[in-house]
Amino acid sequence: MTTWPKAIAAAAKRLEAAGVHSPRNDAELLAAHVSGLKRAQLLIADAPTDLQLAAFEALVARRTTREPLQHLTGSAAFRYGELAVGPGVFVPRPETELLVDWALAHLPKGGIVIDACSGSGAVAHAIATERPDATVWAVEIDPDAFEWLESNLDGTGATPVLADATAAGTLAELDGTVDLVTANPPYVPFEIEVAPEVDFDPSGAVYADEAGLAVIQPLTVRAASWLKPGGWFGFEHDDTHGKAAPAILSVSGFTETEDHDDLAGRPRFATGRLGLSP
Ligand SMILES: C[S@@+](CC[C@H](N)C(=O)[O-])C[C@H]1O[C@@H](n2cnc3c(N)ncnc32)[C@H](O)[C@@H]1O
Repeated sequence: MTTWPKAIAAAAKRLEAAGVHSPRNDAELLAAHVSGLKRAQLLIADAPTDLQLAAFEALVARRTTREPLQHLTGSAAFRYGELAVGPGVFVPRPETELLVDWALAHLPKGGIVIDACSGSGAVAHAIATERPDATVWAVEIDPDAFEWLESNLDGTGATPVLADATAAGTLAELDGTVDLVTANPPYVPFEIEVAPEVDFDPSGAVYADEAGLAVIQPLTVRAASWLKPGGWFGFEHDDTHGKAAPAILSVSGFTETEDHDDLAGRPRFATGRLGLSP
């Protein structure tokens, strides 16, 4: 009879052979998902039932095909929350939490926020729940992703909007009144090689033409219209955009432009402040 620790050790070996980056971690999380136990409890838990073992083996097999762990468990941890995710929506990445740190530090009390390219709503959800004084709008263009966005934002007070964030008419009623715009837009240049897990994200969430800048450029123009003078815009970008991203902000009327590295030391997000009226 197998035990949870034995099943996990065998699964971790299979995942490692398949090139999964954190095999032990993923095996433990899948076991916790199937058993309903916490990871630490698995060490001393009763042996898995046949049904649990079969479900675990099936999930491990899917993970060996590099299907994202979050699709298998149906949820992604982001800051203090859990987002429901699955096919049709981008899985939020930990590095985007840095953009949220920056955003919260630049959000005035009672401020108005637009999170463009909202996907699962990771950024909007974090801001709305960590700063309930803010009014948060979340704009997403893809109807499939929008379904996840609507359900994730339910009860947070944030408002999901199905629209092209770069279009002049989108939330035009807010023009000149917004304090902060955030975005994690699609930005990967088409020629860049990505991890197999990324193939499970919708391609419109990941890749962009014009060396990855096709959404960032018009979005920066739109953000400048939404913002009030002195308002802030921060957006994530590819690590090849460390110079281009702040330059795009400058030509669109932003001052105090800055680029920020992620925890691995790679250029990851750019920020700027809309110039005050003369
Ligand atoms: C990289 S994902 C980011 C999702 C989420 N903000 C996050 O950080 O996990 C980019 C999202 O932008 C959406 N998107 C792409 N172009 C858009 C546009 N013009 N207007 C609004 N959303 C757009 C995609 O459908 C996708 O959901």
